[in-house]
Amino acid sequence: MSRVLTALQPSGVLHIGNYFGAIEPLLDLQEHNENHLFIVDYHAITVPQDPAALRKNILYATAVYLAAGIDPNKTILFQQSRVPQHTELGWILNCFTYMGELERMTQFKDKSRGKGESVSIGLFDYPVLMAADILLYDTQVVPVGEDQVQHVELARDIAKRFNNRFGEVFTIPEVRIRQSGARLMGLDDPTKKMSKSAESPRSYISLQDSPEEVEKKIKTAVTDSESTIVYDPEHRPAIANLLTIYSLVSKKTTEEIVMNYEGKGYGPFKTDLAAAINTWLQPIQEKTLMYLKDEDQLRRILDMGAQKAKEKAEKTMQRVRQTIGIIL
Ligand code: ADP
Ligand code: TRP
Repeated sequence: MSRVLTALQPSGVLHIGNYFGAIEPLLDLQEHNENHLFIVDYHAITVPQDPAALRKNILYATAVYLAAGIDPNKTILFQQSRVPQHTELGWILNCFTYMGELERMTQFKDKSRGKGESVSIGLFDYPVLMAADILLYDTQVVPVGEDQVQHVELARDIAKRFNNRFGEVFTIPEVRIRQSGARLMGLDDPTKKMSKSAESPRSYISLQDSPEEVEKKIKTAVTDSESTIVYDPEHRPAIANLLTIYSLVSKKTTEEIVMNYEGKGYGPFKTDLAAAINTWLQPIQEKTLMYLKDEDQLRRILDMGAQKAKEKAEKTMQRVRQTIGIIL
């Protein structure tokens, strides 16, 4: 039994890469661990957000997690901004973080490129708030995608620095890179990861796509010049990616699927793949819509999560406040 924690930004469209890379792995983890999953709205506002869209996206993300099978009685599911201890600890940790450390963060370099001086302090400071997110709950394991590893390492460094100065105040978290499905590739370009920031929506299957859209996207997905269906990620990345998706949605192994299409061309394979995606997607979409119909219930679930999270976070904060000498 470990204390596991991860968080996602409420940034609109979710695609099947997000689902299999970020959401599905939490379902198994919630059975045997102390699981925390939250929606990092304060991270989202480090870039401009439309208030109405942000509100909608927070509710949508909550509905999708529930539809996917996140059980709010097993996983503490909440909204970051509802637990003010995150920003409180973020401020304290700012005083234990060096400019040079944040200047080295590759995500900041990527996101600030070309913006000159007009880049927000929030974007620069983003990893410190993330460190606070993690350290508040004595987190042991942080499952994230590759791009977030550097941020978790920073959280470890800050925690160690603080502990060296004051004694064992924080638990040092471990990063866990998600394994299978950790990197679905773009349908239009199998050398790039499937991403919602891709230029064309043809790159990804969104969790909101209609059956017709799924069919169209799979039909136009790039394949390779050969026509056989084999699983060979190195030489045939496009077809390997489609086989991975097929395997994830149908819960069949890629070997099984390959066997079924021996001697057959791309046509029937793609028709069946689109059907398999739609069969998998339909109940998730139905449940998401059902949860979205009752916004009050979503709010109640987030309230309950915030209550539980706040209790834990406040215990850590009392320890931290005492440690740094501000409790009189
Ligand atoms: P995007 O690149 O689509 O904007 P985010 O950076 O918001 O996605 O990622 C949200 C979560 O989904 C992260 O945990 C990330 O590791 C995971 N994720 C994103 N794209 C993929 C992908 N193509 N395959 C697997 N997981 C992914
Ligand atoms: N920065 C993460 C991302 O963009 C989201 C995040 C915020 C997070 N706080 C976290 C992830 C704490 C894990 C743990 O994907």
